[in-house]
Amino acid sequence: MEFKQIEQVLDKKLEGKQVAIRGWVYRKRDQKEIIFLTLRDSSDLIQAIVKKDSKAWKEAEKITIESSCEIEGTIKEDKRAPTGFELQVTDLKIIGLAERYPISKDLSDEFLLDVRHLSVRMQKLQQVWKIRSKVFTAFREFFLQKGYYETHAPFFTKTSESGLELFEVDYFGKKVRLAQTWQFYAEALLPALERIFTIAPSFRAEKSKTSRHLMEYWHGEMEAAWMDLDGLAKVCEELISYICQKVAKDCAKELKLLGRDPKQFEKIKPPFPRVTYTEALKILEKDGMEVSWGKDLRTPEEKQLTTHYDKPVIVTHYPKEVMAFYKPSDPKDKKVALCLDVLVPGTGFELIGASARDLDIEAMKKALKSKGEDPKDYEWYFDTRRYGAVPHSGFGMGMDRFVQWICGLESIKDAIPFPRTMERLTP
Ligand code: 4AD
Ligand code: MG
Repeated sequence: MEFKQIEQVLDKKLEGKQVAIRGWVYRKRDQKEIIFLTLRDSSDLIQAIVKKDSKAWKEAEKITIESSCEIEGTIKEDKRAPTGFELQVTDLKIIGLAERYPISKDLSDEFLLDVRHLSVRMQKLQQVWKIRSKVFTAFREFFLQKGYYETHAPFFTKTSESGLELFEVDYFGKKVRLAQTWQFYAEALLPALERIFTIAPSFRAEKSKTSRHLMEYWHGEMEAAWMDLDGLAKVCEELISYICQKVAKDCAKELKLLGRDPKQFEKIKPPFPRVTYTEALKILEKDGMEVSWGKDLRTPEEKQLTTHYDKPVIVTHYPKEVMAFYKPSDPKDKKVALCLDVLVPGTGFELIGASARDLDIEAMKKALKSKGEDPKDYEWYFDTRRYGAVPHSGFGMGMDRFVQWICGLESIKDAIPFPRTMERLTP
């Protein structure tokens, strides 16, 4: 008999019909004359019942939680069953008999992370992985539909945004760094392709143990020739909205299982509220939070600011001094940079960091020196300005943070299957 996915057999039309499924035992409850199994596959759950007089009884008695198996039986609608249907088992074949499963209820988050190679199959995380897959697909679709090319950059590099947050690795006796961004190589590729994007890991040796930092995270980045800050803000809005619409439509079931309302994300449509950094400080001051002009916004301030909006908010024109060396001064006000961050409503964390790119080599050299970098390592990058420079802009979005936001997760660690944090390198 042909195997079906559980999702396909949860169907009124199959009432009384014989079906075959395969999957894993999610729950087991023994009674004298009957054994209740809940089976799981990647698509859904179904309750299966084995009666004592069936030839499946012996195997059902033996089977353990998380064993894999093949089952045949007849479908019956049953409103009391968790997913509305029941499988009355006629045949049961154990494929991989599981040892005593170490995961049960009431376990600490740390233990669940210790056994992440097993806990990845938990029902909650299963929904997150499906949504994560959709977020990545939607990101790609958005840019491909707009005529962007997907490109790739090396992970072993000598360039960086700032010298402080890097992993240094030994490269045949030479010290190199793991890439924090694809951006510099993207800028070099622009004269060839004009509009490009990537999704790749970025590495940050930030000593921050927050709920939104990973040491290795997935970075969705774009770069476009001839684009200014306003054009860039529009791409941010459209991209975020596109992904939200896709997830709300295609992952409504998964969102609901996570206690999230898909309607909330359907509403995320352009335009998004925009404020300058300076205006943001005024809003914060009214809320009783003093920030002295020139300081970057910190988490509590970002969080407070986003309480004023129900969509992501775009904060523009941060102080030039505290920004990365490639973010140019605004010609209308040299103290601020042509840049923007997109902050997520509710938690306030930064989802996107974006900017126009400086074309002035001397200004960039000065900024690099002030950050302790050797401009010599950036000579090849300056060549991109020497040979046919054009105005251009780009951004980077934290893919894991997007997943964290849309799934409503406390910690970014649950947004990626195998998180790398300061303390955690295994499994
Ligand atoms: O703001 P960032 O550092 O910007 C850049 O790296 C630019 N070069 C991107 C570009 O313009 N192409 O990082 C971009 C985004 C942040 O807004 C945040 O969402 C995410 O990357 N991010 C992290 N996500 C998880 N863990 C970390 N440690 C992260 N650091 C940044
Ligand atoms: Mg940033």
